[in-house]
Amino acid sequence: MMSFSRVKTSIITLAFAFLFFQCGGTSSSNANQEETTDAVETSSVSSNEASSAEEVTLVLNTGDALEYDKNELRIKEGQSVTLALNHSGQMAKEAMGHNFVLLKAGTDIPTFANEALDARENEYIPEGNEQVIVHTKLIGGGESDTITFEAPPKGTYDYICSLPGHYSLMQGKLIVE
Ligand code: CU
Repeated sequence: MMSFSRVKTSIITLAFAFLFFQCGGTSSSNANQEETTDAVETSSVSSNEASSAEEVTLVLNTGDALEYDKNELRIKEGQSVTLALNHSGQMAKEAMGHNFVLLKAGTDIPTFANEALDARENEYIPEGNEQVIVHTKLIGGGESDTITFEAPPKGTYDYICSLPGHYSLMQGKLIVE
């Protein structure tokens, strides 16, 4: 028969073993979670979009040059779209501001851009213009703007930066599948 102190020692040993096991288990499951999170982040960086059936996130980057980092974005009909426009440059919006303006299918871009020229007081979004589906605000270096909208019906839509002289280089296609 075990003495009382031996039983006590065994219980303490078991308790330590249990604690050790618990700690080990917890930290390894945290590590797994981190790996999973990293994997998600990595894949969203590589494609710059994370999508599920109902939601999609798009990231469009720009800077102190007349360009977007993507000239094609793909989404699916019915999705709820979150689009972030980032300006990683240094220049103020008065000098090198950008926006994202999504236009209805069939919009004549030069005609629209010409109307936008006159809308300086409204950040180059012509007020009441029915060609605009959605747009971000005008941003300068270090700024971002995020908008959400419902994907329009299947089709191909142009997006442009409507600042004077920008659209010829800053435009792309949003494809709704
Ligand atoms: Cu621009």
